[in-house]
Amino acid sequence: MHKQIIPFLLVLAIVFGCTAPEKKEKPLGQVINESLDFATQQSLLMAASLKDQPDRLPQTIDKEGKLVTCGSSWWVSGFFPGVLWYLYENTPTDSLKDWAINYTLRVEDQQYTTDNHDVGFMIFCSFGNAYRLTGDSAYKEVIHTASNSLITRFNPTIGCIRSWDYASWSAQWQYPVIIDNMMNLEMLEWSSKAFDDTVYSHIAESHANTTMKNHFRDDFSSYHVISYDTITGQVEKKNTAQGYSDDSAWARGQGWALYGYTMMYRATGNKAYLEQAEGIAGFIINHPNLPEDKIPYWDFDAPNIPNAKRDASAGALICSALIELSGYVPAEKSKEYLAVAETQLRSLSSPAYRAGLGENGNFILKHSVGHMPNGTEVDVPLSYADYYYVEALTRMKKLLETE
Ligand code: GLY
Repeated sequence: MHKQIIPFLLVLAIVFGCTAPEKKEKPLGQVINESLDFATQQSLLMAASLKDQPDRLPQTIDKEGKLVTCGSSWWVSGFFPGVLWYLYENTPTDSLKDWAINYTLRVEDQQYTTDNHDVGFMIFCSFGNAYRLTGDSAYKEVIHTASNSLITRFNPTIGCIRSWDYASWSAQWQYPVIIDNMMNLEMLEWSSKAFDDTVYSHIAESHANTTMKNHFRDDFSSYHVISYDTITGQVEKKNTAQGYSDDSAWARGQGWALYGYTMMYRATGNKAYLEQAEGIAGFIINHPNLPEDKIPYWDFDAPNIPNAKRDASAGALICSALIELSGYVPAEKSKEYLAVAETQLRSLSSPAYRAGLGENGNFILKHSVGHMPNGTEVDVPLSYADYYYVEALTRMKKLLETE
């Protein structure tokens, strides 16, 4: 090298820094808008791909990457219609609305479901969003019927809605109640107000109170399954079905709990639910096994961490709940929750989790876990991961717009 050039290069290095310039992050608003645009394109492809199968809904993909669909009675049926409604809310085009209506109607027969608790998921994610965005009273009536179906599963001696009926795989439990069931209470609280009838909210609050008493450990982590004795109403067993072990913290279960109590605080204003949600949030966000990108392993106690599978569905669900909870707590805590939620949104919106256009069976997110102990739906896209991701994007977008 020419001798005179060396001092010149040294000066340049000092002025501009010796290392490569720091990579600037995209503004969050831009990440959100790009992600919603992508989600819209991808979901329109998904919608069109099932146009000739009018009774099928997206579920996941198989080992060859081929779309796996379900009928309306599978618990996830309401999520894809819900995705379309959220996307329509963000970009109100005719095609999104037409598909959202089309897919919502595919789930309509589930309003009469009384043999499992999932009627809340199925009807409120689809018809609930349909009514919220259109005000069409026909949708409201479907939610009314579905709420009446769900409350048939309430046992006043126990104080909870039964999750699963008797089957060979559930025979070990007299009266199983899973933490996921908290999510179905949103429809009941909504119906109570919409139809001016406290029967729904009494049942929802009894369920939430009983669950708060029995489902949680001292550190605010949740069991998955609590089974009750049908004669005494007392706890019979504390187990898991989808987690690593009875005593572990199944990631999506912690998400259902966080979302459930945050939503119950919104619906009732009861501070006990807010404190519960804050306790659960603390467990999740301070957990030593929560990875840097804030997308949890499928179970916080999975045996092979850091090589355990991640669960993007849990990440999206927790993210959406944290954004809502951030609105109910003092500024310092709010900032803490939003920082985690922002990291989660950025992670999920990166190529590490978000699919390419037309890939991934036309689902938006990759890398979720449905049922690890069964070995089913492991490291795959799932319609509920997409639903809570799009909901989280929408919630964060609204928050940024109000700032
Ligand atoms: N509600 C079932 C699940 O979370 O997998």
